[in-house]
Amino acid sequence: MKYTKFANTNIELSKIGLGCMGMSAAYGEDKDDKESIATLERSIELGINFWDTADIYGKGVNEELISQVLKNNRDKIFIATKFGFRMPNDTGNSFSGDIYIDCSPKHIKEAVEKSLKRLKVDVIDLYYAHRIDPNIPLEDTIGAMSELVKEGKIKYLGLSECTADELKKAHDIHPISALQSEYSLLYREVEKEILPLTKKLEITFVPFAPLGRGLMSNKLDISSLSNNDFRKNLPRYKGEYLENNMKLSQALEELAINKNATTAQLAIAWVIAQSDNIIPIPGTKKRKYLESNVGSVNLNLDSSDLEKIEDILKMYPNVGPRYSARENKFVKKS
Ligand SMILES: NC(=O)c1ccc[n+]([C@@H]2O[C@H](COP(=O)([O-])OP(=O)(O)OC[C@H]3O[C@@H](n4cnc5c(N)ncnc54)[C@H](OP(=O)(O)O)[C@@H]3O)[C@@H](O)[C@H]2O)c1
Repeated sequence: MKYTKFANTNIELSKIGLGCMGMSAAYGEDKDDKESIATLERSIELGINFWDTADIYGKGVNEELISQVLKNNRDKIFIATKFGFRMPNDTGNSFSGDIYIDCSPKHIKEAVEKSLKRLKVDVIDLYYAHRIDPNIPLEDTIGAMSELVKEGKIKYLGLSECTADELKKAHDIHPISALQSEYSLLYREVEKEILPLTKKLEITFVPFAPLGRGLMSNKLDISSLSNNDFRKNLPRYKGEYLENNMKLSQALEELAINKNATTAQLAIAWVIAQSDNIIPIPGTKKRKYLESNVGSVNLNLDSSDLEKIEDILKMYPNVGPRYSARENKFVKKS
């Protein structure tokens, strides 16, 4: 494993983290807690020291699952979780239709206690606002998060899917250490403003869905996705966009084979190659994928490889919007 500094601290984080969402939420029925726990344990053996979860992933179930491995490995893992997405009465399926954002100080104070309890830790290393709440002044949200630092409940602040202006404003109120937003071969919006800004402000940029939620592995069997798989509603997984994206991942596979790599390794290595303040968190609940994905850290892409990837992307530009209208309302740009 290779390591890199977290934000402007001396903390060394692995060049890739582990996204844990799919172990408990979003991606269909094939959950297997035993394999997920084995995957978490294997990630430690492979040198990964950065796990990503959120209170909404399975409505606390994901944090509880992780705690089973975290409890004996607290000193080895930099744990990141998030607050902000809620369900009416906090019931129902996570990510179902009536989800809403609540980043009010009152909710933050309650949410952190629940996450600490479920994770069975004294302090959360990195605590993200999962989205910016349009109904709460940013000063109030960041103010409440900074109170948690003073109280010793969290160490560092993160934001997810904010604009450059929001990031600057938040950073002026209290240092923001990490920004987590979607970034992959399928979604490059952050390259315009966000990524350069994080670099300038010494903020770690954490790309989520670096595999385009599996599409950029060229291994995803769309016909096998269950009806409650979140991806079934996303434009990229349907019709002309899906056709484009399958062709794109096939073309990338040819390049990957020439580099003795898998398509997933190529996709993750491409994200890592974009800036030295990047730590992607590819998600998996399977040891076989984890063990393979770790290889992306040692896959060096030179300028000729990067040019070839740009050429392939230009050949298949019809990737489609990343979200349907329901999810789009929570982000500033599609
Ligand atoms: N901040 C946010 O709003 C936000 C949004 C989404 C996600 N996230 C975080 O980011 C993490 C990563 O994103 P993601 O999980 O949505 O998407 P992703 O990392 O792009 O892709 C995950 C999908 O790819 C599959 N996969 C992984 N490695 C593979 C390989 N080598 N070959 C074939 N398939 C492979 C996984 O399968 P299996 O599941 O079968 O292993 C899963 O279906 C999440 O786990 C979560 O922690 C944050």
